[in-house]
Amino acid sequence: MKTIAFYDTKPYDRQFMTAAPGADELRWVFHEFRLTSDTAGCARGADAVCSFVNDRLDRACLETLAALGIGHVALRSAGFNHVDLMAARQLGIAVTRVPAYSPHAVAEHTVALLLSLNRKIHRAYNRVRDQNFSLTGLVGFDLFGKTCGIVGTGKIGRIAAQIFRGFGMRVVAYDPNPSAEWAMANGVEYLDFDEVLRLSDALSLHLPLNPGTHHIINAASLGRMKSGAVLINTSRGKLLDTSAVIDGLKGGHLSGVALDVYEEEEGVFFEDLSGSVLQDDELARLLMFPNVLVTAHQAFLTREALGEIARVTVGNLLCGSSSGFLPGTVVE
Ligand code: NAI
Repeated sequence: MKTIAFYDTKPYDRQFMTAAPGADELRWVFHEFRLTSDTAGCARGADAVCSFVNDRLDRACLETLAALGIGHVALRSAGFNHVDLMAARQLGIAVTRVPAYSPHAVAEHTVALLLSLNRKIHRAYNRVRDQNFSLTGLVGFDLFGKTCGIVGTGKIGRIAAQIFRGFGMRVVAYDPNPSAEWAMANGVEYLDFDEVLRLSDALSLHLPLNPGTHHIINAASLGRMKSGAVLINTSRGKLLDTSAVIDGLKGGHLSGVALDVYEEEEGVFFEDLSGSVLQDDELARLLMFPNVLVTAHQAFLTREALGEIARVTVGNLLCGSSSGFLPGTVVE
C-alpha cells in the first residue's frame, strides 16, 4: 500500500479525499502545514506527496523529496506555476494535476463577485445587521447593455462569458488561441488585448500565470482600461501589479476591484489570522477600500469541485508506479 504525505490539509480536503473511490487503497498522512523546502523532510517514508496551490515546490524542496525517494508529486490543483517543473524533470519526479474539476465553480464565483461588488451586497449585509437601512452609497449599475471583457477563453473564461451573455452584456474577449466557432455560437467578439481593455466596463481575467503573463495588468495596461471600469481576478494573484491596482483605485480610474487571488496570498489565504496583526500593507490597504471585495481563493470551493479533485487525485496517485511511469494527468 502506497503512503501519501498530504500537505496543507483542511477539514474539507480530508473529508472529500478519504471518501473518493480507491482512497482506502492508499495510506494517508495528513499535514496541516504547507509543503516548502523546510517541511519537505516530513514526507519521509512516503511514496508520493499531495500538494495544493500555496505550497512552494522549488528546486530545494524537490531535491529533498527526491533524496527521500519520492517520485511523484500529485497536485490537487489545475495551476502548476508553484512547481519548478525543470527541476522535477531533472530529479525524475513526475508531476500530475487535476486539469479541470469544475470550471463552473470558478466561473460562477467570478459572476458572484461582480454582482456583489456592483450591487454592494458586502456593504448592505453589514449595514442591515447594524439596523442601518440607509441606501446612500449603494448605487450600482445594470449589467444589461454593458461590456464585459474576458481575457483567456479556456474552460473557465468561456463559461463566465456565456453567463455574462445571459445578462444581456456585450462580451469581448482576448486569447492568443481564439476559438472562432465558440465565439460565433455564443455571440462573443474576439478583439486584440488593448481593444478589450479599452471597451470593457468589467474586465475579468481567466488566463494562466507564466513569465509572459506576470503583471499583465500593470500601470500601463491599467491606463489603457476604460475609466471607471471594474476589474475581477479569479485566476492568479501575480497577474496583477497590486501597487498599480491600488493607485488605480485611489485615483478613481478603477471603480471597483474583486479578487479571489492575491499576489502575496501564500501563507495568508486559507489561514485563520483573525487574532494576529496583518503584516502585508498592500493587502491591508486593499481591504480598506469600500469598493474592493476580496475572497481568499475560494472560487473552486464547491462540493462538485472538491469531489472531482479528490476523484482525479486519487486516480493519479493510484496510477503512479515506483518507476515514475504515470498514465494519469501528467503536467507537460
Ligand atoms: P485553460 O487552460 O482552460 O484556459 C486558459 C486560457 O488562457 C487558454 O485559452 C489560453 O490560450 C489563454 N491564454 C494564455 N495566455 C494568454 C494571454 N497572454 N492572454 C489571454 N489569454 C491567454 O485554464 P482554465 O482552467 O480556464 O483556468 C484559468 C485560470 O483560472 C488559471 O489561471 C487557473 O490557475 C485559475 N484557476 C483559479 C481557481 C480559483 O479557485 N480561483 C481554480 C481553478 C483555476
